Amino acid sequence: MRRFGICILALCTCLMVGTSVRAIEMLPTFGDIDHIHLPALIVQHADGDQSLQLKAQDTTYIDNAQYKETVIATKDMVHPFYVTIHVRQWKDVAITETWYEISHTEKKPVRLQRFDSGYLPLENGDLYLVHLHGNWAGEAVPTVERLTRGVKSIRNSDGARNAHLDAPEVMISLDGMPQENSGRVFGAALCWSGNFEIRVAATDEKGFHFYAGIDPMASEYILSPKQVFTTPHLAYTYSNEGMGGVSRAFHRWARTCGMLHNGNTTRSILLNSWEGIYFDITEERIIAMMNDIAAFGGELFVMDDGWFGGKYQRNSDDAALGDWIVDTRKLPNGLEALTQAAKDRHIQFGIWIEPEAINTRSELFEKHPEWALQERGRELKLGRGGTQLVLDMTNPKVQDFVFELVDDLLTKHPEIAYIKWDANASIQNVGSTYLPRDKQSNLYIDYHLGLIKTLERIRAKYPNVVIQNCASGGGRANYGLMPYFDEFWVSDNNDALQRVYIQWGTSYFFPSNSMAQHIGGSPYLMTGRTTPIKFRCDVAMSGRLGMELQPAHMTDTERAQCTTAFKDYKELRELIQLGNLYRLVSPYEPVPVVEQQQVASLMYVNDAKDHAVLFAYGLSSFMKQSSRRIRLAGLDPERTYTLTERNVRQGEQPCALDGQSFTGAYLMSVGLDIPLSTEYNIDYPSRIFELK
Ligand code: DGJ
Repeated sequence: MRRFGICILALCTCLMVGTSVRAIEMLPTFGDIDHIHLPALIVQHADGDQSLQLKAQDTTYIDNAQYKETVIATKDMVHPFYVTIHVRQWKDVAITETWYEISHTEKKPVRLQRFDSGYLPLENGDLYLVHLHGNWAGEAVPTVERLTRGVKSIRNSDGARNAHLDAPEVMISLDGMPQENSGRVFGAALCWSGNFEIRVAATDEKGFHFYAGIDPMASEYILSPKQVFTTPHLAYTYSNEGMGGVSRAFHRWARTCGMLHNGNTTRSILLNSWEGIYFDITEERIIAMMNDIAAFGGELFVMDDGWFGGKYQRNSDDAALGDWIVDTRKLPNGLEALTQAAKDRHIQFGIWIEPEAINTRSELFEKHPEWALQERGRELKLGRGGTQLVLDMTNPKVQDFVFELVDDLLTKHPEIAYIKWDANASIQNVGSTYLPRDKQSNLYIDYHLGLIKTLERIRAKYPNVVIQNCASGGGRANYGLMPYFDEFWVSDNNDALQRVYIQWGTSYFFPSNSMAQHIGGSPYLMTGRTTPIKFRCDVAMSGRLGMELQPAHMTDTERAQCTTAFKDYKELRELIQLGNLYRLVSPYEPVPVVEQQQVASLMYVNDAKDHAVLFAYGLSSFMKQSSRRIRLAGLDPERTYTLTERNVRQGEQPCALDGQSFTGAYLMSVGLDIPLSTEYNIDYPSRIFELK
């Protein structure tokens, strides 16, 4: 962090020195790019001029308990065009945020043609870029590549979500191939849920330049006089503890600096109805599932899609989005019967909604077809179920509708403790009936500003309802929406083996209490893979634990294992959800699999370093494979730690490591031979150890 901290402070000092100082080093503009070559800000002034040369006018400082912020007011040398540069440095976390406020008093609107959130020079060297790429059911695959001369660009053009395909977070190793726990690594996240572009440019031999911001593609922003456009924040860090150091900085920032709603609190163990019963909701089935989750020791039941609809029933994904009324054909006694049933079982109740969406087969569409995003004179492009559209969140009436739907649910049913907020469509119809014709290119941006405004209203009134951010799985795992949500759904793929990989990549930037991880069924419906219940539990237990299956289909052994898992998880929850993550062995690490077992392992350590939990998963199973020694990290070398095996497989005794003591130095340098034996034909072995 120090290196970048110094760099930013030096730039701030340089800008403070006098009014003649140009802002180019912090914000290269078109018309003033000099040696930096690519601009971070391009505008076309009201009179058609496209050049911009910003000079510092004034610098102010904010210094409070949490952060120091430098605010530099700049002005163009010719036009009444202003940019205020913000640099916020958090005190207890090695994260810096930058963003710009853009305004003008020109005679007519100014066109913002590119408007990044931050620019940073990076040193020359053997730089490697790591970014997360993935898709529905296969999210967050770390993609690693060497940066070469030229411009590398990572973008997302979904419109509504931005964590499927390419995500808005990257790491850059300054020391060759990135390592997990060593080496200098820069990490950055653009706090935005819409289209973005992250660029690393090496346009000459002198160095690399980093830019991140909203993707200007089809998004020229038309800025009226006196209107202030605030770019999303760019958050970045620097660590000489490798990628793990970058992750831990982001996790702490999310938890303690308000980037994750209620970030420093733990989350409940839940059962979600989706993969258990899909749209086949009945009062009887829901109450039976509540009985099950309560019997396991769970704390919350979430009724997913399928509970609503009037004239149009929600029996599949092709109808009723927008008609947020309880379907009394399925739930004759309304939500009241369900919230009461939850109360009787001492668990909480949660519900699914998809507020930004509408089906053409809905009463809402019959009443307000103009509320859907649409292109003038063109046929509608329809999404999920062949009938789904996205509501026009730029329209204040639609914002009110979305707010009122949540408000109505929570006022009528104050017992609702949890909302799963889904978003299953990208913006395919790029037109708004609300925005004026000359501001249609504001759509991609104003959509998200409207969404954020609505979420702010909801949070102001309902700060304590837990809200899950879901978008066809992990499509909205980003820091743009995180301040309004308590957690996000990591993936629709609950196959425990693939989850090890998906959760691994997701943990690069997001803390474990934000990562919703559910025990799925076996054989798993999407992949057909059979995995033991212990493995499924152990994989889900490394984040926010939940389950998503039909408990009625479980065997007695599976039920008993889940009960043990829930009990142990409750005792370890604070450590897992709020501890410091150390990734030990990557599932992506290549090994000669027949000779050596493919393994993944991670651990959490508390701040005092006197309590830790270790997860180890065997991913390949061949007879007579050699075991893998796992070296631990993050412990106090001087302390002695005693191991206790947790969530022991039903019918087995804890393994030989249980009860043994080792110094932190031994565990971190020599490591442990974790028994992930395949001798007994056990596919997908796993172990959890508590260290005290
Ligand atoms: C997509 C989500 O990712 C799933 O978990 C589920 O809620 C479905 N939508 C419901 O339609």
